[in-house]
Amino acid sequence: MLHQVSPTAVLAVAAMILPSIVSADGPLASSKRGLCFTPNETTRADDSIWPPALSWYYNYKPLPEPKYKDIPQSEFEFVPMLWGAPETKGDTSFVTTVKDLIKSGVNITNVLSFNEPDAPYAWGGSYLDPVTAAQAWVDNIKPLSDMGLRVGLPACTGGRDGLPWLETFVRECSALVSTGNKKENCTFDFVTIHWYGNFDGLASHMGQYAAAFPNKTMWITEYNLAGASLEETQAFYKISAEYFDRLDFVERYSLFGAFRSDVSNVGPNAAMLSNDGRLTDIGAWYLGREGTGVKPTDGKSVSVAGRQVMPTVSAAILGAVAIAWGLF
Ligand SMILES: *[C@@H]1O[C@H](CO)[C@@H](O)[C@H](O)[C@H]1NC(C)=O
Ligand SMILES: *[C@@H]1O[C@H](CO)[C@@H](O)[C@H](O)[C@H]1NC(C)=O
Ligand SMILES: *[C@@H]1O[C@H](CO)[C@@H](O)[C@H](O)[C@H]1NC(C)=O
Ligand SMILES: *[C@@H]1O[C@H](CO)[C@@H](O)[C@H](O)[C@H]1NC(C)=O
Repeated sequence: MLHQVSPTAVLAVAAMILPSIVSADGPLASSKRGLCFTPNETTRADDSIWPPALSWYYNYKPLPEPKYKDIPQSEFEFVPMLWGAPETKGDTSFVTTVKDLIKSGVNITNVLSFNEPDAPYAWGGSYLDPVTAAQAWVDNIKPLSDMGLRVGLPACTGGRDGLPWLETFVRECSALVSTGNKKENCTFDFVTIHWYGNFDGLASHMGQYAAAFPNKTMWITEYNLAGASLEETQAFYKISAEYFDRLDFVERYSLFGAFRSDVSNVGPNAAMLSNDGRLTDIGAWYLGREGTGVKPTDGKSVSVAGRQVMPTVSAAILGAVAIAWGLF
C-alpha cells in the first residue's frame, strides 16, 4: 500500500538533495544520459548524431529503430516501451514482441511503460485510467518482470494528478495479482519521471517521488525548461545535469530536446539542434563535448528552405507521431 506524501518528508528529501556547485564549463559526459528519440522525416540524417555518445535510447515503441538496430546493446541500449494499453483487453503482443527480440539476440534488460497516462491524447498522453493500465501491466509488463527484466513504473506528467494516478495504479495492480488470502504487490524496479519547468520544481517533484516510492531508483525520461530564454534554459540544463550525475539514485536521464529548434514544441531554446541541424551548446554539452556557440535559432529551417516534400500519407503518420511527442 502507498501512503500519502507528507509535506515534511518532501521538504526533507528536497533539502537533502539540493545541488551545491555547478562547474562553469558545463557538466562532463555521463553514462546516465540517453536519447529520447523523436525523429523528423525531413531530417533523418540528424539521427546519426546521437550514438555512441549517448549510451541508451527509447523511441516510445516496442521495437528498435531500423537505423540503430545493428548497434550492440552494450554500446547503445534500446529500451522498449509499452506506450499505451492495447486496444483489446488480454492482448499480450508486447510480451511476444520483446521475447522475440531477445530470442533474436538483442539483450533487452530494461522496459518502460505507459507514456503520460494521466494526460489526454491531444497533449501526447496515452490517457488511461489506472484500472485499465493495471490490467495491461499484468498482461504485458509483469511477465517480463517475472523473466528478470527491469521494469519502470508508468511515466506520468509532472502535473498534480500524476502521483495520485500512480498510487491508484499500484493499488489496483496489486489487487489484480492478489487472491483472497494471498496478498501480493505489483513490483517495479524504478520510477520514471517527466518534468517541464524550473529546477526548484524539478527537485521538489523528485522529492515527492522519493517520498512516495522509497528506495527506488529514478529515470528522468523527459525533461526540460520549456519556453524560456536561452540563458535560463542553459542554466537549467547545467544545474539539472550536474544534479542527476551526482545523485546515485538517479540511474538514467534523457533530455527532451533531440530535435531542431524550429520544430520544438517546448520552445526554440530547449532544442539540442539549431534550425539547420548543428549541435547547440546544450546539445554538445549533453554529448559530453565543449559548447559550440551555435544558437538554437541559427540557420535556415528546412521548411523555410522549401525542401519539405512529403506525401499526404507520411504527413498523417507524422501527425500521429507529433501527438506521441506532446509536451505533457
Ligand atoms: C505490499 O506493500 C506493502 C506496502 O509497501 C507492504 O506493507 C506489504 O508487506 C507488501 N506485501 C507483500 C506481500 O510484499
Ligand atoms: C545483457 O546486459 C546485461 C546488462 O548490461 C549484462 O549484465 C549481461 O551480461 C548481458 N548479457 C549478455 C548475454 O550479453
Ligand atoms: C535502498 O536501500 C539500501 C539499503 O539501505 C541502500 O543501500 C540503497 O542505496 C537504497 N537505494 C535507493 C535508491 O535509495
Ligand atoms: C518535421 O519538420 C518539418 C520541416 O521543418 C516541419 O514542417 C514538421 O512540422 C516537422 N514534423 C514534426 C512532427 O515535428
